[in-house]
Amino acid sequence: MKILITGGAGFVGSHLADKLIGEGHEITVIDNLSTGRYSNVAHLEDKPGFRLIIDTVLNARLMEELIRESDRVYHMASAVGVKLIMEKPVSTIETIFRGTDVVLDFCSRYRKRVLIPSTSEVYGKGISVPFKEEDDLLTGSTDKHRWAYACAKTLDEFLALAHWKETRLPVVVVRLFNTVGPRQTGQYGMVVPRFVNAAINNESITIFGDGTQARCFGHVLDVVEGLSKLLDTPECFGQVINLGNDQECSINELAEKAMKMTGSSSILKYIPYEEAYGDGFEDMRRRVPSLEKARRLIGYQPTRTLDDIINDVADEFRKKPEASYVNA
Ligand SMILES: NC(=O)c1ccc[n+]([C@@H]2O[C@H](COP(=O)([O-])OP(=O)(O)OC[C@H]3O[C@@H](n4cnc5c(N)ncnc54)[C@H](O)[C@@H]3O)[C@@H](O)[C@H]2O)c1
Repeated sequence: MKILITGGAGFVGSHLADKLIGEGHEITVIDNLSTGRYSNVAHLEDKPGFRLIIDTVLNARLMEELIRESDRVYHMASAVGVKLIMEKPVSTIETIFRGTDVVLDFCSRYRKRVLIPSTSEVYGKGISVPFKEEDDLLTGSTDKHRWAYACAKTLDEFLALAHWKETRLPVVVVRLFNTVGPRQTGQYGMVVPRFVNAAINNESITIFGDGTQARCFGHVLDVVEGLSKLLDTPECFGQVINLGNDQECSINELAEKAMKMTGSSSILKYIPYEEAYGDGFEDMRRRVPSLEKARRLIGYQPTRTLDDIINDVADEFRKKPEASYVNA
């Protein structure tokens, strides 16, 4: 098949490109390299059937051409990461919503299968863990920029489901929970690469808040497996589906594990959220996915653990220190 991956030079998109090119598909990546990196796809450039286009998904004329000639689209391009969202609220909203609008519009016109990633952030301040796809969404007020990411992604979800409802566009919406692994940078506030990089360099590890907040970390290779199955499975069309890992770990435990596994002498440093992200920042204490729907529809079962993740990320940073781009 001919497959278009928007944001394919990013963290998740580039792993997806690796998998799909390995299966013999022709892959076109469009990426404006805003948070993505050329080095994530450099190794694919000489593979037959791979093409990289450096441009924006907001270029509607180009997107029409690329979508028309593709069989499937994975729309991974997005503004990503809490830090970026707090610093650039306007472009965050525009990139997410306008980009998805362009993609869905042409996928609808040319009847192409399309996957739209959303995020666990849409569950907002929900407290009834594990989060199920049909749960109410509870975000904060509009003067708290953090929620702009969740709300823009929620609007993406509504638009995708509206296309399904009106014209049966074969679209799958996937809510990704924290997805981590090699190639993710800590530059935009991602916690695992920040901690692992600090640990292997014996630098202090900065924890925002008191560290008792918890997350579930999914290995990118498990997630990418799930993404491709979702678009292979017509029962998933018109559905919203959680994907990630459901093993919970507090941020304090994560820091301690990263130090132990890398034999680090780092010390832990705590700073308030306000200092990291500005006044009025609100965080979610827990974020656990119910993976029941993904299990039922595609037999999804993550096989990689947090130890695997830390080992893989530490290996990458040791081999390619420049990969981290982190100032912890
Ligand atoms: N990694 C996670 O934990 C996570 C969690 C929830 C949701 N997601 C979603 O998964 C998708 C991929 O995220 P990621 O973690 O790989 O982040 P990433 O930042 O590595 O990837 C996003 C890619 O999109 C590109 N991009 C941004 N704006 C663009 C534009 N206008 N035109 C073309 N390319 C553009 C960036 O350069 C980057 O390569 C995103 O939709 C994100 O919201 C990721």
